[in-house]
Amino acid sequence: GKYVWNGERLLNRAEASVDVEDRGHTFGDGIYEVFRVYGGKTFEPELHWARFERSARELRIELPLPIAELERGVEELIEADGLAEGIVYLQLTRGAAPRAHPFPAEARPALTAFAKPLERPLSALESGTSVITRPDIRWLRCDIKSLNLLPNVLAKQEASEAGASEAVLHRDGVVTEGSSSNIAIAKDGVVRTHPANNLILHGVTRAVALRLAAELDIRVNEEPFTLDELYAADEAFLLGTTVEVMPIVRVDGRTVANGVPGPIARKLQAAFAKRI
Ligand code: PDD
Repeated sequence: GKYVWNGERLLNRAEASVDVEDRGHTFGDGIYEVFRVYGGKTFEPELHWARFERSARELRIELPLPIAELERGVEELIEADGLAEGIVYLQLTRGAAPRAHPFPAEARPALTAFAKPLERPLSALESGTSVITRPDIRWLRCDIKSLNLLPNVLAKQEASEAGASEAVLHRDGVVTEGSSSNIAIAKDGVVRTHPANNLILHGVTRAVALRLAAELDIRVNEEPFTLDELYAADEAFLLGTTVEVMPIVRVDGRTVANGVPGPIARKLQAAFAKRI
């Protein structure tokens, strides 16, 4: 969009700048959130802010403002940009300081936020999507939404090159999540998804989907599943801010069940659409 919010004021994007020794830039020493905006309003803001606060705490980065004021800033950004449907990207780094690994004594955490129009992926939600699988080579704190996304970027690039929309990651054959989404399967009417521990991002969409499943009396088992179980699933779907509840119809070139979005994904999609 037109504006960048830096925690103090809205700047024209062309006038916004980042210090070359900002630790986000030199070390990836920071965190972020991606909020979905529907009808000019952030979707499930409480869950995003709680995760943002937790990521900051885990990395011992101080919030520059109370959450209520951060929330107000994001709302003003959406308003100024005239954004109806899209995302807000919000990033907080440990700030700028002469490059040295230990935390700097007196850097001030640096905030940047911008908004961007984005349409819902309506046709893919109808027809389903293709994914590939790749080893999960990330660290052991994937629950922190940190800026260090190189493994995710490499996996997503491989997916793109393979004509797939997402790379589903696994540790020794145990599926964790996608490079920018969570994943669930359904088998014999029961939804399975990796537990929200240190090996996955605790996705907002995942949390919403589990809540909707409970309301719909769909059984959920938060236990890891294997690649073989993914290949043999009745249904599989991605869960994420940008993909919503996205049916997976092909994994590594193999068809999932009969190759069309299944009834559980459909029910969750319908329930999800009502919350928008
Ligand atoms: N990604 N897992 C990973 C590794 C993610 O990066 C994301 C989100 C998710 C889904 O979480 P949520 O439902 O809260 O969006 C799971 C964002 C959208 C991104 O990096 O662009």
